Amino acid sequence: MKKKIEVTKPFLPPLEEFLPYLERIWESRVLTNAGPLHQEFESRLAEYLGVEHISVFSNGTLALITAIKALGLSGEVITTPYSFVATTHALVWNGLTPVFADVDKKTCNLDPDKIEKAITCKTSAILPVHCYGVPCDIDSIQRIAEDYRLKVIYDAAHAFGVKVNQRSILSAGNYSVLSFHATKVFNTFEGGAIVSASKESKQRIDRLKNFGFIDEVTVLDVGINGKMNELQAAMGLLQLSYFDSVMERREKIYKRYVNAFSLMREVDFVVVDDHISWNYAYFPIFVGGEGPALRDAIYALLKNEGINARRYFFPVIHRLDAYKGKEFAPMALSNAERLGDQVICLPIYDGLGEEDQDHIISIVRNFFLEKNGDGEICCSR
Ligand SMILES: Cc1ncc(COP(=O)(O)O)c(C=O)c1O
Repeated sequence: MKKKIEVTKPFLPPLEEFLPYLERIWESRVLTNAGPLHQEFESRLAEYLGVEHISVFSNGTLALITAIKALGLSGEVITTPYSFVATTHALVWNGLTPVFADVDKKTCNLDPDKIEKAITCKTSAILPVHCYGVPCDIDSIQRIAEDYRLKVIYDAAHAFGVKVNQRSILSAGNYSVLSFHATKVFNTFEGGAIVSASKESKQRIDRLKNFGFIDEVTVLDVGINGKMNELQAAMGLLQLSYFDSVMERREKIYKRYVNAFSLMREVDFVVVDDHISWNYAYFPIFVGGEGPALRDAIYALLKNEGINARRYFFPVIHRLDAYKGKEFAPMALSNAERLGDQVICLPIYDGLGEEDQDHIISIVRNFFLEKNGDGEICCSR
């Protein structure tokens, strides 16, 4: 039987290091509701990420829904169609109309010019995604937000630990939302967090994630249950001490892929500038030209060899059944559609062996060696 290789494998600390946390939880019988581990995790996390105000959540989707709710938005919100579907769902769950703008084909992130063109008198906010952990053009987005008096919420689900010029990107906008889902570079099984721009904003988020309570008998807001439990917080505390070393090992894997593919004109990939400390969250490659046929052939070949690469993000959100045919896209979204047709995320995780990685590389390389008998196929994103 062929060995299975998934696109990612969650990092877990040694089990024996988790047991003392379990003992603490069993002893205290505090399982949730901002318990001691939750408190400790929030303050250590803020310090680690270099941000001032953070609130941890049971998952990233509830965190997104809560951040949007906290801003009291109305009408339209400009967002990207090239993301995981939770980004758009969170808007619709708040009764807002998502308006898709196209992305930049090199960064895969919202193109500021396209954001500006999508603004109408109904626009209240922008919801960009730091796709694959690659930072958005934060300065241009901030300028647009100020010019048009719009709020900004960053979906930073992929961007744990990412910095630009040594500064966390999570402080940008009104709120940034993280996911600690098992598939993410930093996991608490399920989990998430909101980074707030001020103490008052954090207080509002903390209230909203706990049904709107401010004391035993006062409910000030229509809140929700977004609380992180003590088991998740314990996992988060442990993960923090391993994150730097996990990053080092992911970087090595990333560099081996880059070495292998940089001489192949048929394969394009994301390159980040030197002033960015990236987290190597994904290794997306872009292959083929028009339509998904060539990409799907490589995807099928990998699958046949037991390698579960993933097509993040295909189909693009406006083409999913839930959104198809609705008037959410005033402009062409051709870059997002093309990226969606060309992308394959190759496996990258702590523990991916060199032999397995070489096998993945050789499948992609051999595919093109054989194909190029019919003429060279360049990828033009
Ligand atoms: C871009 C993006 N936004 C939001 C989410 C939702 O996060 P969660 O799975 O923690 O609810 C995810 C991932 O799952 C994501 O990739």
